[in-house]
Amino acid sequence: MMDHLTVVDHPLVQHKLTLMRRTDTSTGEFRRLLREISQLLAYEVTRELPMEMRQIDTPMQKMDAPMLAGRKLALVSILRAGNGLLDGMLELIPSARVGFVGLYRDEETLEPVQYYFKVPPEMDERLVIAVDPMLATGNSSAAAIDLLKESGAKNILFLCLLAAPEGVARMKEAHPDVPIVTASLDERLNEKGYIMPGLGDAGDRMFGTK
Ligand code: URA
Repeated sequence: MMDHLTVVDHPLVQHKLTLMRRTDTSTGEFRRLLREISQLLAYEVTRELPMEMRQIDTPMQKMDAPMLAGRKLALVSILRAGNGLLDGMLELIPSARVGFVGLYRDEETLEPVQYYFKVPPEMDERLVIAVDPMLATGNSSAAAIDLLKESGAKNILFLCLLAAPEGVARMKEAHPDVPIVTASLDERLNEKGYIMPGLGDAGDRMFGTK
């Protein structure tokens, strides 16, 4: 069982993250760095995947060799910024199943409202990795995990690039059984809900919108 919060402090992850934070990093560069970081984070979060021995033929002889066991894992992107993490992870785990969760915030109630939800079958038998680059207030992340649990998921992990202490606390309260893996635990949220020092709006930076 993983700790509730794991910060991946690998030098390559930290260096690339610093480049991503910089204001003068272009959209193209940001996207490339995000793809690279997501692969390094995917390597970390898949450490405990179950393995089994299978007999294979090498050009030299037969051998029992380790392979991934069980159902394919499910990567679930929390729209829209989650897609930036998803793309890189899929290059490393091409056979993963993929789901999407779309939520927006009702301006009156401030509650997250679902506008899209599609996940693979047999969610209860898969490791489900929910991805969203920014764990800010934690409200939409917690709501996305609620939906995944309603779909049957039992073994869920949350992967982000940056986490605010407020978001980690919210997730721990709502979903203590869901470990969080991040590249950085930042200082705080500002009054508009942005992570400080952060990197700005992750979706805008990766898609070139404003
Ligand atoms: N979402 C973002 O894209 N950036 C933040 O700082 C907080 C939430």
